[in-house]
Amino acid sequence: MSTTPVILLLSGSLRDGSTNEAVLRTAQAAAPGRLRTVLYDGLAGLPHFNPDHDTDPLPAPVARLREAIDAATGILICAPEYAGTLPGSFKNLLDWTVGGTEICDKPVAWINAAGPGRGDGAAATLRTVLGYTGAAVVEPACARIPVDRGALDADGLITDPAVRARLADVLDLLAAHHAELQEAPQELRAT
Ligand SMILES: Cc1cc2nc3c(=O)[nH]c(=O)nc-3n(C[C@H](O)[C@H](O)[C@H](O)COP(=O)(O)O)c2cc1C
Repeated sequence: MSTTPVILLLSGSLRDGSTNEAVLRTAQAAAPGRLRTVLYDGLAGLPHFNPDHDTDPLPAPVARLREAIDAATGILICAPEYAGTLPGSFKNLLDWTVGGTEICDKPVAWINAAGPGRGDGAAATLRTVLGYTGAAVVEPACARIPVDRGALDADGLITDPAVRARLADVLDLLAAHHAELQEAPQELRAT
């Protein structure tokens, strides 16, 4: 069995040229070779959450989301703040995770890319909602990395080496959490 950590990257923005997606795509580019990253691209295709549809068979986009979470050893989220909280479309994604077990005890971290003094409402909501999903928040891997739209290059990536190094650190910390779990006795493993 492969022990290469796989980090699922979840952007909370649907906007073309999103800075939050840019953070995650830059994280992919800067990722240490010992781990794999997968950028989830299904946010726009998720149906509105409806408990009546949270049954077998699940809507195909929801099944795909849950499979991606299940296959990951950790999750990194980067979501903007809308009106003091998470974007509705991303809260919708999180609502779809509640009825499954895939995210339970899954190591999760987030990056807050908002400018100084901004984005705290979204971060607070994220923490609350993740608590309900049962995800295991890896606090040392959660980071505030302010990113300005002007910081993106022609490919939509962040070139600042300091930001890239921090993103690599965040992924490393999530992967290290995975490694610790692999070494833990079976009954203590999260996944
Ligand atoms: C409808 C809407 C509401 C917003 N509300 C807030 C807010 O409450 N607090 C904040 O700091 N920024 C707010 N913003 C700014 C966005 O968080 C900011 O533009 C962010 O970079 C968008 O992320 P993206 O570039 O990944 O799409 C809002 C933007 C929009 C479009």
